[in-house]
Amino acid sequence: MINRIVTMKEAAAETIIIEAKGLTKLYRRGAYEIHALDNVSFSIREGEFLSIVGPSGAGKTTLLQLLGCMDTPSSGEMLIDNQSTKGLSDAKLTRLRREHVGFVFQGFGLLPTLTVMENIVLPTLFSRRNAQSTAEELLETVGLSSRRNHRPHELSGGEMQRAAIARALINGPKLLLADEPTGNLDSTNGAAIIKLFQKLNRDGLTVVVVTHNSTLAESTRRVISMRDGKIESDSQPVFNIGSNSNHLSI
Ligand SMILES: Nc1ncnc2c1ncn2[C@@H]1O[C@H](COP(=O)(O)OP(=O)(O)OP(=O)(O)O)[C@@H](O)[C@H]1O
Ligand SMILES: [Mg+2]
Repeated sequence: MINRIVTMKEAAAETIIIEAKGLTKLYRRGAYEIHALDNVSFSIREGEFLSIVGPSGAGKTTLLQLLGCMDTPSSGEMLIDNQSTKGLSDAKLTRLRREHVGFVFQGFGLLPTLTVMENIVLPTLFSRRNAQSTAEELLETVGLSSRRNHRPHELSGGEMQRAAIARALINGPKLLLADEPTGNLDSTNGAAIIKLFQKLNRDGLTVVVVTHNSTLAESTRRVISMRDGKIESDSQPVFNIGSNSNHLSI
């Protein structure tokens, strides 16, 4: 049994779930051109926990939005589960996003008139999942079972963030993308979010966070550092692929 678990983990470690090939995002403002992203290439393996860091304006949010199919590149290509997103219609991109990616927005993005429970099940309106029981499990996971009928303004910042994370997970994505998830939180609530991400990652979720929080960045196994739309450094773990040595070494 243990051997089987190890084998599955090893297989996951070798599966690339997202590949960015020469991603460029160009914004034009009058006569000016801004290279928000400039020829960025890297890949993310299933089960990774990685942070993207860098100064303001480095292109972190732009990159996260492309990884989450929330936007399209000016040039370059994104592959999700080996499938290119190039030329896909908006409807197909939306479906791909809904099935593969959970997104936690900076500032939570909860709808104020809905309860915690209603916010969490909202993304399932267009899917066929059994939302209620999954939402109950997620409320438990993020420690909000007793707040299910509260509205966002009745929650603390940490609780709102945990509700936003539960909502991002309701469609069962393999990949969770979070933009500054501890940005609006004090250190205690920030530490609780870091612990939650670590637990979700241990349970198999691939987690990518954009962060200015050094504690969060240090808690991830891989750190991509960006500057001026480019990857400045990538502390990519080395996967020793061999019959007896598929262990992660950093
Ligand atoms: N819609 C837009 N139109 C024009 N320029 C944009 C747009 N969105 C982003 N940019 C520019 O692209 C660059 C990268 O922006 P991005 O939001 O990705 O930075 P960031 O690394 O997330 O910064 P921060 O840490 O402040 O959130 C910035 O120079 C920004 O001004
Ligand atoms: Mg940003």
